[in-house]
Amino acid sequence: MNGSRTQSNVRSHISPDVNAAADACARHIAALLEQALAERRSATLAISGGAGPRPMFERLAAIPLVWRNVHIFWVDERAVPPADERSNYKLAEESLIRPARIPGENVHRIRGEMKAEAAALAYAGDIRAFFKLDDNQLPVFDVVHLGLGENAHTASLFPGDPLIDDRSGIAAAAHVDAEPPWRVTLLPGVLLAARHIAAHVTGAGKAEAVRAVFREPFDPNKYPAQLAHRGHDTVWFMDAAAARLLSAE
Ligand code: 6PG
Repeated sequence: MNGSRTQSNVRSHISPDVNAAADACARHIAALLEQALAERRSATLAISGGAGPRPMFERLAAIPLVWRNVHIFWVDERAVPPADERSNYKLAEESLIRPARIPGENVHRIRGEMKAEAAALAYAGDIRAFFKLDDNQLPVFDVVHLGLGENAHTASLFPGDPLIDDRSGIAAAAHVDAEPPWRVTLLPGVLLAARHIAAHVTGAGKAEAVRAVFREPFDPNKYPAQLAHRGHDTVWFMDAAAARLLSAE
């Protein structure tokens, strides 16, 4: 099974396996960045972490782009130092930033080694400075890359977190039911303001979360990843295992 389905601003692209899904997502993100670079001097990409993205990042890094004009931000980070195995920065550094030779000044990491609240404030300040934002403005990223947790979380917005209702802030500290518990996350208003969202989900363990996100009534407090359905332009890249409960209908 390989194909795209259109529902207004949301499409899903289902690939036969993990590698094909990584490849499709990487090509999509690269095309969006190329389009952004044709329109503006630089392009901005906010990336997620966790276990899923590595093969996608490796493919993305291998695509010839003017990487020196691409700025990398994070959707979320765990409160760990950058050399920690759990660091989303470390994952991206190894699989995307170093292989693509993205210059250090384009890498806007969240300082996981700081206390999460201080790191969130510092990150919001870095974003405001980069995008030259006034007090109430939100940044508009060219591409926001999202993942999906088994409990339907996205970014570090876990079910029931009051941060899910925040549409005006840029970044916040979140205390989540996962290891490590302290995280820094972009807030929903920023995810929704992005020009494009590319969600990448693989593995049978995500099938029920995918089903809930697509089939249950909109209730982001219960299924935070449903926020992606309210983006301007969202494509979900899945392998057949993750999409299994969609195709059954
Ligand atoms: C993180 C991520 C997170 C991720 C989902 C899915 O720091 O954990 O950025 O939001 O997208 O948890 O993660 P997996 O790919 O590990 O399942």
